[in-house]
Amino acid sequence: MCGIFGCVLKSGSAAPIIHSALKRLEYRGYDSVGEATVNMGKLFIKKDAGKIDEVHSLLNLDDLPGEIGIGHTRWATHGAPSRVNSHPHFSCSEPPKIAVVHNGIVENFMELKKELDDAGHVFRSKTDTEVIAHLIEENIGEKELALKTPSSSPFEKAIFNAINRLQGSFAVAVVSSYEPNKVFCARNESPLVLGVAENAFYFASDIPAFLPLTNKAVYVENGEMAILSKNAFEIKKIFDGSSVTRDLKQIDWAPEMAEKQGYPHFMIKEIYEQPRCLRDTLRLQDKYLELLTTFLDRAREVIMVACGTSYHACLAASYMFSKLSFLATHPVIASEFTGQHGKSVNIDSTILAVSQSGETADTLAAVETARQRAATILGLTNVVGSTLTRVSRVYLSQQSGPEIGVAATKTFTSQLSALSQLALRLAKKRGKISQEDIDILDEKVRRIPDIVEKIIETQKEKVKKLATKYRDKSCFFFLARGISYATALEGRLKLMEIAYMPAIAFPAGESKHGPISLIEKGFPVVFVCPPDQTRKTVIGNIMEMKARGALIVAICEENDEEIIRIADDYIEIPKGIPEILSPIPYVVPLQLFAYYMAIERGCDPDMPRNLAKSVTVK
Ligand code: AGP
Repeated sequence: MCGIFGCVLKSGSAAPIIHSALKRLEYRGYDSVGEATVNMGKLFIKKDAGKIDEVHSLLNLDDLPGEIGIGHTRWATHGAPSRVNSHPHFSCSEPPKIAVVHNGIVENFMELKKELDDAGHVFRSKTDTEVIAHLIEENIGEKELALKTPSSSPFEKAIFNAINRLQGSFAVAVVSSYEPNKVFCARNESPLVLGVAENAFYFASDIPAFLPLTNKAVYVENGEMAILSKNAFEIKKIFDGSSVTRDLKQIDWAPEMAEKQGYPHFMIKEIYEQPRCLRDTLRLQDKYLELLTTFLDRAREVIMVACGTSYHACLAASYMFSKLSFLATHPVIASEFTGQHGKSVNIDSTILAVSQSGETADTLAAVETARQRAATILGLTNVVGSTLTRVSRVYLSQQSGPEIGVAATKTFTSQLSALSQLALRLAKKRGKISQEDIDILDEKVRRIPDIVEKIIETQKEKVKKLATKYRDKSCFFFLARGISYATALEGRLKLMEIAYMPAIAFPAGESKHGPISLIEKGFPVVFVCPPDQTRKTVIGNIMEMKARGALIVAICEENDEEIIRIADDYIEIPKGIPEILSPIPYVVPLQLFAYYMAIERGCDPDMPRNLAKSVTVK
């Protein structure tokens, strides 16, 4: 999973613009970086392994001539992070005449590589991407170009032919000395969006890359090629070259929304943003909420598919739909869906796919399996224009704004808010709860942003101290019952992915069936224990752990004296939160705990090792 960006300027230097855009895409991958520009018919390339700042200080990425260029920040999938494996990749000719950057996986690259090897092409890297550059070169045929003045048709045709040979996921961009005034970019599955400005055209994997430059975007769909030149852009179908018209979309994210706004890290900025995001999620478009509710109401079978944090949102939502709307739903980890339900999913199935990025390969693969069996696809995502929005019959945008931190925080609580609104609306439609109860719950949903704001303000210092106190522990338990099990799973994931601390989450009732054997003196056990109907049994579980020497950290309601008395440490959550909404406020201290623990342990919360923001490979 990588980040690509490029531009065609009417005037000025492309390299510094590409460099700063890649910085804004760094969360998509950061093990190597490179740029290629075209100037006076020649290609200029700089690239190396390492984070963008490291490579820039070595090579000065701004110092490349030309008004046209492409860039890439990498998350390795084929070939270890190294200079030779970093993008751009180029064809055989020396000096290079074709440079390519790519995000995705060319699934048939070995077959293509063999064909190109046999044709005498010399490969430099171990990547799948490099075959694209050689394939274009093979298609164009040096001799054909030698005869005629390079014109767009043979080179453009060569690109189309090459892209049509590719199988798998790609967002690929090409610059060349054969066509020195154009950038070609194409997509299949991997995200690609154009930015349109007065004096420039941009392409990028994601909107924040060009948001400070323009808020006008055009989405490139699967199977399409965009051709950018100084005065225009056009979109064509890769398959037959037919033209496509696509409207401009106005992006309502202000540029600073995608920047850190003075916070030390995107992650803490986004934790603090939650009240605002939750208010935005209270302004979901009624039409789509209603449409989704209708589909859920009529569904014979509802399966929710997602990965990671989004799966935890689905788990919590299954309690909301069951307890409020009397709708049975089945949360399934997306990578397991096809194996588990691939044969049974059918026209009577409704799939609710939840994905912040809308580009997670496992989730999209599960959706594709279901689509092929005529299931109804519904989507919940944070990125309008993402692939999930295009494969869904109906989708809901949770409107959280860009989430740059690799760890999902604000998008998780927004997902929960959106899902709770759907459950409430469905309960109303089905007449399952009284109007009075609906009004009470509606009011509670609207108060959640203020409650989250209060938790952050009043508890953050206490959580910071807990991170210091527990920083040297070797493992944690996160335990809970009922809907809070989803909260415990999410707290565990945050601590693992950001602070690299081993952590185990399971329903508290499971402790005696094995895991309790890990408990010894000083072992930290985090309990998520709101005052719902599980509270009494959870107190029993706390006592079990205490009796074996565990240190108890309780996330409980404020002034819950019984729990406060038996806990070694506790974080208090304001009173009056209904059970089905409790994951939203109760997860916030766990997000902060993971963040402060990462800082304590010298980890970079925004760029956790081995992870990327959106996993667009299976
Ligand atoms: C969460 O902090 C992780 N970044 C990861 O588990 C993430 O939630 C998962 O990859 C799903 O991403 P999506 O919501 O964009 O599909």
